[in-house]
Amino acid sequence: MAMVCLSDFEAYAKKYLPKIAWDFFAAGADDCSTRDENILAFKRIRFRPRVLRDVSVMDIRTQLLGTEISFPVGIAPTGFHQLAWPDGEKSTARAARAMNTCYITSTYSTCSLEEISAAAPGGLRWFQLYIHSRSLAQQLVQRAEALGFQGLVLTVDVPYTGKRRQDIRNRFRLPPHVELKNLQGAFEVCSTSLLDPSITWNDISWLQSLTHLPIIIKGILTREDAELAVRHGVQGIIVSNHGGRQLDGAPATVDALVEVVEAVAGRVEVYLDGGIRGGSDVLKALALGASCVFIGRAALWGLAYKGEEGLQEVLRILQDEFRLAMALAGCASVSQVGRHLVQFSRL
Ligand code: FNR
Repeated sequence: MAMVCLSDFEAYAKKYLPKIAWDFFAAGADDCSTRDENILAFKRIRFRPRVLRDVSVMDIRTQLLGTEISFPVGIAPTGFHQLAWPDGEKSTARAARAMNTCYITSTYSTCSLEEISAAAPGGLRWFQLYIHSRSLAQQLVQRAEALGFQGLVLTVDVPYTGKRRQDIRNRFRLPPHVELKNLQGAFEVCSTSLLDPSITWNDISWLQSLTHLPIIIKGILTREDAELAVRHGVQGIIVSNHGGRQLDGAPATVDALVEVVEAVAGRVEVYLDGGIRGGSDVLKALALGASCVFIGRAALWGLAYKGEEGLQEVLRILQDEFRLAMALAGCASVSQVGRHLVQFSRL
């Protein structure tokens, strides 16, 4: 079967993954309305394409906190990659490096940070932190920094795990051969509900005291929290609703993007994840002020298809679609993308 667009990889993953793994990847919270809205909100946005603007030479490169990447799509942190492919996160790291983009490695990796770093030396990686306890967090952050991870992503939308009905029905747990390698020995890791729900903005300065890495906050959806993030000295914000897996009824990320971008007013970089399923979604997010987007489930579908190669194929398709969408909208470089590209009144 020719793999032409991301939904081809979705169909493959649905057909060939064990049902319990597919259901876990696909899950949203409660009625899944936020999960689905992430996608629908992109579909509602219309372009204002410009013409006759010489798009014979295209430059789709961009920068993430000063580091160049080949195009503005990175890999969002997702757990348990060995449920999709035996080599798990090692394959993810290799694919991201091959495509010269950023891979945000989850605390819930099934390969250790050391294995991931060794699999793709020199690749651009950020480490996503969940805080179970301060001592464990400190150890993870310092390990990641020593291994050359270049950013620390603090996920802030999981004081408790959202209610994902299908996982409850399936009695989801990791198969015995799959382990959370970064947390080994830390505690019984069959559950992911042991996060510290008492974390507040005050803990950002504690994190800053542990590391020189730039801190990126993942899970912001409002101007108020965007302002607090900037005031607490973070370097980046990921507008995210966790792929609709946490608070059902939260807005689609592309709908929340505008108020966050306006509140931040260029003081820190703003990124988005949730619902990216094609190159024109990437262009819409950039037009509304994101400087990069990240893919969650689509990366897992690529892994499920053919590991490193499959994920590279997903990224290559997104790259080609993004380049084409930019050209058809009349932009030859990412710096030419702006709000004028979308019909703003319809948002
Ligand atoms: C996630 N997400 C996530 N986020 C995070 O900060 N740490 C994690 O370990 C995970 N794990 C995880 C597992 C699975 C199976 C999914 C689908 C998602 C959320 C993820 O980073 C991202 O916010 C969403 O996946 C983006 O939405 P799309 O691209 O899946 O629509």
